[in-house]
Amino acid sequence: MIYCYNKLLSLSDIIYHIVMDTPYIDFAHIDYKEPVILCGDCRKLIVNIPSASIDTIITSPPYWHERIYPGSLIGEEEDLEEYINNLVAIFRDLKRLVKPTGSLWLNIGDTFRDQTWQNVPAKLAIALANDGWFLKDEVIWEKANGGLSSRTNRLRPSHEMVFHFTIEANNYYFEDEAIRETKPLVKKASGKSRTGVSGVVYQKKIEESPFLSYREKRKAKAALKRVLKRMKDGYIDDFRMVIRGVEKTTHSNNIKISGRAEELERNGYYFLFYNPKGPIPSDVWCIHASSGRLSKEFSSSFPPELCRIPLLATCPPDGVALDPFAGLGSMAFMAKALHRKSVSFEINPDNVAIAEKRCSDG
Ligand SMILES: C[S@@+](CC[C@H](N)C(=O)[O-])C[C@H]1O[C@@H](n2cnc3c(N)ncnc32)[C@H](O)[C@@H]1O
Repeated sequence: MIYCYNKLLSLSDIIYHIVMDTPYIDFAHIDYKEPVILCGDCRKLIVNIPSASIDTIITSPPYWHERIYPGSLIGEEEDLEEYINNLVAIFRDLKRLVKPTGSLWLNIGDTFRDQTWQNVPAKLAIALANDGWFLKDEVIWEKANGGLSSRTNRLRPSHEMVFHFTIEANNYYFEDEAIRETKPLVKKASGKSRTGVSGVVYQKKIEESPFLSYREKRKAKAALKRVLKRMKDGYIDDFRMVIRGVEKTTHSNNIKISGRAEELERNGYYFLFYNPKGPIPSDVWCIHASSGRLSKEFSSSFPPELCRIPLLATCPPDGVALDPFAGLGSMAFMAKALHRKSVSFEINPDNVAIAEKRCSDG
């Protein structure tokens, strides 16, 4: 089930491709049901992938001084700066494979050494941003089953970081509708919003507000009436009204910084309209760390669930996802479940064998 090199290529073709540095793998002929898993050093396997063919990279490289990974020296650098420089260079090379609209999701944990956290995730994120990646999301992965700690002088660590970078600052693929969290509908009585807002409370707040002039109250009530009519007609699913001095604001009160603060000062109110498909997920993800050992030797897998939002949001249904440090193939496993094509690199053949089996069973 694991697709290696394009079997139609003859030896002379392969040599030609190596000399000309042209790709072997044609994703047009690959099915999501057969994730591509290549065994080798990601720095070398890069040449087997066509330029600008990958939509999203989702990966977790070896952590610094946390484990020994057979066949790899990444993570064993004595110097943290050297480790970061090595990873920055690898992701610079991988960038060639990614479409201009593409993303990189990087899961990385910190290292406690010399009695102090080394700040590895933050330092790596800064180095990648300095190398031209655009940082879009800083996700905290809260490990739901974070485990116990026998330490008595610091807190029990139970999180890791997942950074979302893009190649371009603005024009990147992000399918928000695929990841919105649709909340159960409050039974929609006529004239009420998804969460039961009818406007009666806002109406009362406007009338009783000591912070609005008579004229502002009249305008606010008229605006509320218009919004309620649009909701009744089915154009709006849910909303909130923020009224000067009455409702809690979620932005800065400085009108130079916030457009909403400016609107509040000018009109005395503003509206927040909610997407009918539900809110966009937050950047704190509470996910169980992988339970159940797939391998006796290897224990640093992330849970496939960690890849769900990255895959749905940044890999189109006909796109391709890449994990250059695939371990036991968690990303490939989830990509297959979500009907996305994927390619994985892994240096340790034992891990490749487990990843292959996991993906063919899944
Ligand atoms: C933190 S683990 C990734 C675990 C993976 N996310 C999973 O869920 O199983 C890092 C992996 O990178 C692999 N690795 C280390 N150096 C590599 C290299 N140069 N090329 C490809 N894989 C490498 C290691 O063998 C290890 O399996």
